[in-house]
Amino acid sequence: MGINPVGINPMGINIGGRHMQDISLTVNGTTHKLSVADNELLVDVIRNDLRLTGTHVGCDTSQCGACVVHVDGRSLKSCTMLAVEADGKKVTTIEGIGAAGLSRLQQAFRDNHGLQCGFCTPGMIMSATELLARNPKPDEATIRHWLEGNICRCTGYHNIVKSVQAAAM
Ligand code: FES
Ligand code: FES
Repeated sequence: MGINPVGINPMGINIGGRHMQDISLTVNGTTHKLSVADNELLVDVIRNDLRLTGTHVGCDTSQCGACVVHVDGRSLKSCTMLAVEADGKKVTTIEGIGAAGLSRLQQAFRDNHGLQCGFCTPGMIMSATELLARNPKPDEATIRHWLEGNICRCTGYHNIVKSVQAAAM
């Protein structure tokens, strides 16, 4: 369902057989009042309601990691969270990471050919951004372990890891 700027839909109303709830999401620094179905996934709200399509959907099994965003500063597969569970939380998408110009990590991906088709890249960047925030100097094994939940169908793992290492230096 779409953005509900005037708050017409009170908590708990049924629309077209779907149980709707009003939520508030702060995404990339902007707070949105939304009316969402109680079974709607966070990734669908991000992509369909907010039109932030840099967050990708690459599977229906919660394995690929293309949908990773930050929720209250932690990496999370946004296909595994209901939008109603994110009520009141702060979400950062890939658009928020690159808003003020490429981050050091994004530049490192660019410089080290860390992407091929680019489909997995937003999720890789979101996951690795949290890693570097927690551990500014991760070794290769740590990087590979951290990115286990992110699949690159182009199998560009070598340069992805190299990119994260370059950003860590
Ligand atoms: S779309 Fe979320 S893990 Fe694949
Ligand atoms: S660069 Fe193509 S899926 Fe990773």
